[in-house]
Order: sequence, then C-alpha cells, then structure tokens
Amino acid sequence: MKIELKDNKIFLENQGVRKEIHPFWLRERVNGEEHLDQITQQRLFDPTKLKNNIKIDELKLSGDFLEVSFNDGTYNKFSIQNILNEFKNNNYNIKKIVWDSSFKFSNIFYFEKNIFEKKDMYEALAHFYKYGFVIFKNVPTKNNFIVDFANSIGSVRRTNFGEFFNVKSKPNPNDLAYTSLALAPHTDNPYRNPVPCIQLLHCIENEVRGGLSTLVDGYNVSEKLKKDYPDYYKILTETKVRFQFIDENIILENWSEMIELDQNRNFKQVRFSPRLDFVPLINKKKLDLFYAARKKISELYNSDKFKIEFKLVPGDLILMDNYRLLHGRTKYDANEGNRFLQGCYIDYDSTEGKIKHLKKKFNL
Ligand SMILES: [Fe+2]
Repeated sequence: MKIELKDNKIFLENQGVRKEIHPFWLRERVNGEEHLDQITQQRLFDPTKLKNNIKIDELKLSGDFLEVSFNDGTYNKFSIQNILNEFKNNNYNIKKIVWDSSFKFSNIFYFEKNIFEKKDMYEALAHFYKYGFVIFKNVPTKNNFIVDFANSIGSVRRTNFGEFFNVKSKPNPNDLAYTSLALAPHTDNPYRNPVPCIQLLHCIENEVRGGLSTLVDGYNVSEKLKKDYPDYYKILTETKVRFQFIDENIILENWSEMIELDQNRNFKQVRFSPRLDFVPLINKKKLDLFYAARKKISELYNSDKFKIEFKLVPGDLILMDNYRLLHGRTKYDANEGNRFLQGCYIDYDSTEGKIKHLKKKFNL
C-alpha cells in the first residue's frame, strides 16, 4: 500500500488498485493545533461549514510527510503512515472459533491488581471474542466487587433489576433463576431492547454438589442448523417472535428472530428463552415449520454434544457473550449449603473500547 501523486492529486495504490483520495477527505483530516484538539483528537472546526469545492493547490512529498496547501488557504503536513493507517484494518479483528462439548478450557486467566491495564487483559478479551467467554480466577469475593470489575472494563449496563443481581434461591422469586431448579440453556433478557450484550457472573459461595454451570456455543449450533436443516434455519432467521417479561411495575417486550443475521446474512445474535417467547399467528404451514425448527434447535442447545458443564468455585468470574452463548445450570439442593453468585451486564462498547485501547497501548 502506498501513496502516489500526480497533477495535484493524491492516489492510494493498494494491491494493484488505484484510488484517488478526495481532497475534502484530506481537508477534514488537517491536524494542526488550530484545527484539531491535540488531546481529544476532536476537530476544532465544523467540516459541514467548509465550502464544497475544496481542491489542492500545492502538494509536496517530503520524507514521511505529505505537505498540502488547500484552496481555502489551509496548509497541513500529514504523516503518510497516519493516512495509510486509515486503510488498514485497525479493528481488533478476532475470528470466532466454534466449540462443542469437547472444548478444553484454554481461556482461563488469573485476576491480579491492575489487570485491567495489563497485556493479560488484552489476551483475556481476545479469548472472549474467540470463544464467546473467558473465566477469571481468584477475583476477590467481596460483595458487589462485580460492579467494580465491570466498570474497570467499561460501564455497567444498569437494568430494572438494578446495577447487579444476586443469584441465590429466595422466597417468591420473580424469575426461575432465583430458585434451586435446573435452568436449561438460555440467553438472558431477550425481551430487552437492546438485549444486554455481555453477562458477568461472579461466584461468591458454592457449597452445593449440584448447581454446575452450563454453556453452549449458540453460534456453533446455528451453523450446524444451517448446514443440516436449512429450512429450519431459514424460518428461525426470518420469523420475529415476541419476547416478554412482566413484573409488578414494568412490561418489557421485544420482537426479534431466534437467530438474527446481519445485513450480509451472517450470524449476529441468538435468542433463546422458551418460557417467554410468543410467535405471532402466521399461516399454519409456516407455523408447523417454525415449531419443528424451534424443537430441533432446542434439542441441539440441550444436547450433550454441544454443552459444557463445570463447577464455578468462589473467586471465579465468567464474562460471557449473551449474543452468542447460552448459559444455564444443573439443579441443586439448597439444603446442602450456600450457593451465591452475583451478576451484571456490560455492552460491547465496553469490551471493544478496552481491547482497542490495550491493542494500541501495547502496540499489538
Ligand atoms: Fe440467565
């Protein structure tokens, strides 16, 4: 990739493809002190107020810099590397790796003070993006530490349950999570708009024999469905269902597909919580197909082929992608002892913001 100049025009040459860099595009990027705040990197001018016919009057390559005089009287010395960086993939760009019940836990990290600013945190978040989850061990079991943890990556996503929630059996629960019953694999809060992206769960106490945590790679399951049962995949990616949650003082509803795809028809998100999904009364044939498809995906989510089971011990904290993974737990006997987990949510801007920051900081 390189910059070429001809007749007061600038071209980007990349793998045999030549493209002119629009003079306005460059003018917007002038970065002298009077044009750009040097700390925030925010513009000190409003580019929508510039005249449209910005042209280049003079152009000069000098070493690693490009000196440009524009026809509105502005002069700027651009770093060529900075211009080229705009065309590189500066994203954290980590590919998903699908997994099933044979998964070997290669994504375990040990908490230490200030880990949030260390290279280890970059590695941990990279594993989170690869596998959809990461486990931190030895996280202090102080009450509510989970909120500090979440806020050290980004910001807690508060919901009507509060900043965080306690998972232990309690009388008159408003959700099955607060009983000692088994919880089949599900995604959290599909009824919210938007759905919380990432769930954090921190084990404070776990004295019971049961209550194992379960995880399923929903991405892997949806790819399996696409390959083996394309009709089922199609209807689950095209039918919007209503997810709802009703409590004393709130009704939360969201209409969405059980497998949501992005604009390129690639995987975006799974939603699965069969106690609170309501399909609209579409025609009977379609409904026949929808119900068969939902049954099949439920079988896959619950099958031993895709599910991992493990015991969380005090100090363990999982960060899991609620758009990709399903989670659950096996039942336990509340008379055997205490089982106490705390949970909260963050959104992708937290993890993306952190991993990009660490990538830049450590030049990775
Ligand atoms: Fe849950």
